[in-house]
Amino acid sequence: MSIPNQSKISAQHVNVWYGAKQAIADVSLDFGQDHVTALIGPSGCGKSTFLRTLNRMNDTIAGAKVEGDITLDGENIYSPDMDVVQLRARVGMVFQKPNPFPKSIFENVAYGPRIHGLAANKPQLAEIVEKSLRRAGLWDEVKDRLTESGTALSGGQQQRLCIARAIAVDPEVILMDEPCSALDPIATAKIEELIHELKGRYAIVIVTHNMQQAARVSQRTAFFHLGTLVEYGATSDIFTNPRQERTKDYITGRYG
Ligand SMILES: Nc1ncnc2c1ncn2[C@@H]1O[C@H](COP(=O)(O)OP(=O)(O)O)[C@@H](O)[C@H]1O
Ligand SMILES: [Mg+2]
Repeated sequence: MSIPNQSKISAQHVNVWYGAKQAIADVSLDFGQDHVTALIGPSGCGKSTFLRTLNRMNDTIAGAKVEGDITLDGENIYSPDMDVVQLRARVGMVFQKPNPFPKSIFENVAYGPRIHGLAANKPQLAEIVEKSLRRAGLWDEVKDRLTESGTALSGGQQQRLCIARAIAVDPEVILMDEPCSALDPIATAKIEELIHELKGRYAIVIVTHNMQQAARVSQRTAFFHLGTLVEYGATSDIFTNPRQERTKDYITGRYG
């Protein structure tokens, strides 16, 4: 199921197994450059598993096997020639639980650009750190405490720090796996606002079990159930006029 648009990432006939258990079955989905795409569906339906196929994070899980074709700008990301470290910079990820490094706020953001050689000198590195923190909506809150530990920030600030860290290496795509589920409503609203601001600059794919959130932040929604893609379309259509009975049951809260 694909919607014609400028697709940044294209996943075709993706299957994922954990040992003998199949978690994703024949999922095909295209992600547009200018869109926020929400992945929704009941717990255990394979949202995180599918998201992880998009930057090969399942490679890090013993026993996980991925089949199918996934391309980033037409390039097969599972090709043996693909530099996985580079790929994960191009396709960054933000996790459910904010996971800043136990390092200073500055270092959390500077680490990636440094290992990827994106700054020629210290002032340039400082510039990237500031730009990334500004873009993540965190600069004003942390500019006077850059040497403090990232882990000393509030949960919502930590999550924005993790977004700044992802942004710092100049990604093309940002994957977010329930980025607000550990946050309070105010911190959640800030992240949602941030997603709006980042839209267009990065292709964004967000897993959420909060349907109001999917409706608020995304332009495309994909509904997963039992490892399959049931329906994909414009978010407004999915929530107001779903074509599939299973989608309707889910969005009306009949199961979850
Ligand atoms: N590391 C893993 N090892 C084995 N099974 C897993 C692993 N991660 C997820 N699964 C299984 O794969 C299925 C999909 O899980 P997941 O992708 O986490 O779903 P969701 O994110 O939609 O809640 C579930 O049945 C889950 O138990
Ligand atoms: Mg999940």
